[in-house]
Amino acid sequence: AVVKTRAELITTLENQRDAHPRQLIGLVMTMGALHAGHLSLVEEARKHSDYIVVSIFVNPTQFAPNEDFDAYPRQLEKDLELLATVGTDLVFAPTPEEIYPNGESRVTINPGPTATVLEGKTRPTHFAGVCQVVHKVINLVSPNVAVFGQKDAQQLAIIRQMVSDLDMSVTIVGAPIVRAEDGLALSSRNAYLSPVQRETALSLSASLRAGVSIATQGGTRAEILAAAETVISEASATADSQATLVLDYIALVDPVTFEDVDHGPAVLAIAAKVGTTRLIDNYLVEVK
Ligand code: PAJ
Repeated sequence: AVVKTRAELITTLENQRDAHPRQLIGLVMTMGALHAGHLSLVEEARKHSDYIVVSIFVNPTQFAPNEDFDAYPRQLEKDLELLATVGTDLVFAPTPEEIYPNGESRVTINPGPTATVLEGKTRPTHFAGVCQVVHKVINLVSPNVAVFGQKDAQQLAIIRQMVSDLDMSVTIVGAPIVRAEDGLALSSRNAYLSPVQRETALSLSASLRAGVSIATQGGTRAEILAAAETVISEASATADSQATLVLDYIALVDPVTFEDVDHGPAVLAIAAKVGTTRLIDNYLVEVK
């Protein structure tokens, strides 16, 4: 079933809870333009819950005015077909007016220090918008479990912090990154890439794999970052003029705070622009 209004969502969930009071409800939030990465979250949710709600909503408040809110791919019919293949119980596909009936909110969430580094440097208002919509949709659905992808590692860390710091009664589950066979992390924004740009985009995951390999051999923080940076600088230098590659950051950070780390579990993260498309990727590593 598909519902587009919050009233329908609430009635459907009330009926569901009345009929099956013991059922666990799982939530997967998306902005649509679904791919195998999103579908893997539904499969993960299935492991933890009996009734799965998927939201499809391109949330305006997490896009800055210069970003791709208008261009973001919207393909509800195709998304519904894909969700049917993995078994989704309810799809919530609201309009912006349905989610923000009062217009601009007067009360918002401050996502804290983790939101000021890496993605937050380039996108200073992004995580406040993410927290706002995640908090709202979790409140509307009241799921037992909500699944988010490691693809957006900083988003996942901040959502975990919000849920913990604001005592939200939901269990957050993280799911691994789904990649194309050639290593490119699946993303709705890959649809923006031309064939040559997609070729250039492979250097993001290649760069991370170079760093991971040094980490596995017991390399230091400096060695891991140098290995990753070398791959990216070579790719930037040789990129086609139609597929320019501009690095934003390569970072080795604590998986919780996203501050730089020298030892222990870490996220090796990258962000770069290929042409005009900004892409992100990461691997979890252990630094000796
Ligand atoms: P979106 O980019 O559509 O991603 C929805 C969910 O899918 C996120 O949890 C994201 O981490 C996960 N995901 C995306 N690509 C993935 C991949 N290749 N492998 C595994 N998981 C992947 O992230 C958002 O939307 C929004 O910020 C949202 C949380 C919905 C709030 O608006």
